[in-house]
Amino acid sequence: MNAFALEPIEKAPLADLKKLQLQRLRWTLQHAYDHVPHYRRKFDAAGVKPEDCRSLSDLAKFPFTTKADLRETYPFGMFAVPMDRIVRIHASSGTTGKPTVVGYSAKDIDTWAGVMARSIRAAGARPGDKVHVAYGYGLFTGGLGAHYGAERLGLAVIPLGGGMTERQVQLIADFKPEIIMVTPSYMLAIADEMERQGIDPAKCSLRLGIFGAEPWTNEMRANIENRLSMEAFDLYGLSEVIGPGVAQECAEAKDGLTIWEDHFYPEVVDAASGKPLADGEKGELILTSLTKEALPVIRYRTRDLTRLLPGTARAMRRMEKVTGRSDDMLIIRGVNLFPSQIEELILRQPGLSPHYALEISRDGPLDHLTVLVEGNDTAMASLQHSIKAYIGITVDVRAGSIERSIGKAKRVIDKRPR
Ligand code: DLL
Repeated sequence: MNAFALEPIEKAPLADLKKLQLQRLRWTLQHAYDHVPHYRRKFDAAGVKPEDCRSLSDLAKFPFTTKADLRETYPFGMFAVPMDRIVRIHASSGTTGKPTVVGYSAKDIDTWAGVMARSIRAAGARPGDKVHVAYGYGLFTGGLGAHYGAERLGLAVIPLGGGMTERQVQLIADFKPEIIMVTPSYMLAIADEMERQGIDPAKCSLRLGIFGAEPWTNEMRANIENRLSMEAFDLYGLSEVIGPGVAQECAEAKDGLTIWEDHFYPEVVDAASGKPLADGEKGELILTSLTKEALPVIRYRTRDLTRLLPGTARAMRRMEKVTGRSDDMLIIRGVNLFPSQIEELILRQPGLSPHYALEISRDGPLDHLTVLVEGNDTAMASLQHSIKAYIGITVDVRAGSIERSIGKAKRVIDKRPR
């Protein structure tokens, strides 16, 4: 089979997709109930049995799974297959407490390579392309996820991983990769390093960037596309669900991310009440794995805010670009705010670099926000003005040198006393 041709399910009528989803969903619920005591207890407590799922909408009767479930059963308590069937373990370091640990069977690794290959192809990879992977390798799923997917497509993988930015630039200049897979914030750091070395980023070989692992705005996209003269596409995923490769923006439409719904069933709920929302309404994304053996996830609360949209490039539904997580929301003097709102304004302001950080401190009884940027005084004053005008809060804008991320950028520095 030609690895660059669409898989039949990508073109299948919606009715066929739904039929497959229901069949796989019922298998997943039964598998989780039979092999993970924690799921069995939760289903029993909620008074539901796997066989109660007769239609896709019945999924809403089942309890959510959260990071707390994975922590409670740390490290391997959520695994649904014995250790002799686990071939890989990844983990994500949370900001607090124990990491969440995820496991894969051989078939899960194969599924993952398949959805990643599909993602890279959807972004516009072509036979003969070389792929520079600058997502971190290791317990983080970015590097190995991208690696296996690119290899599955038959592309030449250059497995750099994150860090050693000078060498990244040298090898981009020497090996001339057409594709780069990296966090958007690290892409910016690589572009800065190109300039430092006297290389014009717009003249580099890169044609296509597949960016994800952190929120990034369309303003950031435009900045990267112009500066590096490349096309930038969004890739979404999370370790608990598989890693990267849950959803990918398709080159034909570039209008949000197609969710690979034959493997991951999406719902959107109201983040506060947990009530299901209709497609088109914005809320928290919930994902259920449909084919995973080692770590089935049932109604996993991603905390990522988005909405579901009808399919365009594929029959499968799309999700809107994730611009924030419910737990990233800041409340500054009564105004709810996401870091991405500030990012938009910074990127629209000439005279500022796209690197930034937000510092929250306590000023008497109130929280105070300082926006740290790199740029000239006029641009900073202008940013302060536009934050007041568009978001409605008074902030300090201060020049500082922003630490360059080599993976996920840390946008918020919380200096409030605990
Ligand atoms: O970040 C997996 C990944 C690697 C995705 C490489 C894309 C590319 P985690 O470390 O478990 O897994 O973090 C998952 O990162 O819940 C989102 O909050 C955020 N995230 C991931 N992709 C995007 C994206 C990987 N495209 C968490 N846009 C998720 C916005 C993203 N946020």
